[in-house]
Amino acid sequence: MSKLLRIGVLASGGGTNLQAIIDRCQDGSLAAEITVVIANNPGAGALERAGNAGIPTLCINHRDFSRREDFDSAVVEALQDAGVDLVVLAGFMRIITPTFIAAFPERVINIHPALLPAFPGLHVQQQALDYGARFSGCTVHFVDGGVDTGPIIIQAVVPVLPEDTAEALAARILEQEHRIYPRAIQLIAEGRVSVDGRRVIISPACPATPKALVNPATEG
Ligand code: GAR
Repeated sequence: MSKLLRIGVLASGGGTNLQAIIDRCQDGSLAAEITVVIANNPGAGALERAGNAGIPTLCINHRDFSRREDFDSAVVEALQDAGVDLVVLAGFMRIITPTFIAAFPERVINIHPALLPAFPGLHVQQQALDYGARFSGCTVHFVDGGVDTGPIIIQAVVPVLPEDTAEALAARILEQEHRIYPRAIQLIAEGRVSVDGRRVIISPACPATPKALVNPATEG
């Protein structure tokens, strides 16, 4: 068997993206091994999900640190101790510092529940609704110094429906997150992902994407 990509997952919340990654590792469609799951708050459901899967967990509570940099240094040290090749932010609600990124150059990825560069930041499903966007979706991207600004690896598009609430839209987006996050990690595990300025090159290329989506749909 070829070498598995060693990943460290950082989470703050329920951990459904973590669960999708665990499931794909277990069914063999993702050639990766989660070597540590770190949460910044003790109540994170992600810790329980990791524990159930027998994955080592750590809670590094950001409230125990007066400086953001010191929290990040503690997390970086734990990731290095776990021999991590790739850092996967899965619902991790802390902004990470340049020191963190310098420790894992082009080796930190994030998932965001909107079609970046539209709607970075927080409460983005509500933002998409309020704006009247016809499509939203989710984005997996490399993390750079900005908030949700790094080069984009993969996106999924989700239509916004007339009767949508932020919760309903978030649930449909989350379903797609669970598809594209393991996929992005697998592409990295296969060594197919490189960064050229803002653009991410996948080589060899993936199959062609449908030509266009229209919402509201055209008649007939
Ligand atoms: C996901 O929707 C993820 O995209 C979002 O938090 C949720 C975590 O869900 N992340 C962000 O908004 C990051 N800025 P999960 O804990 O069930 O994976």
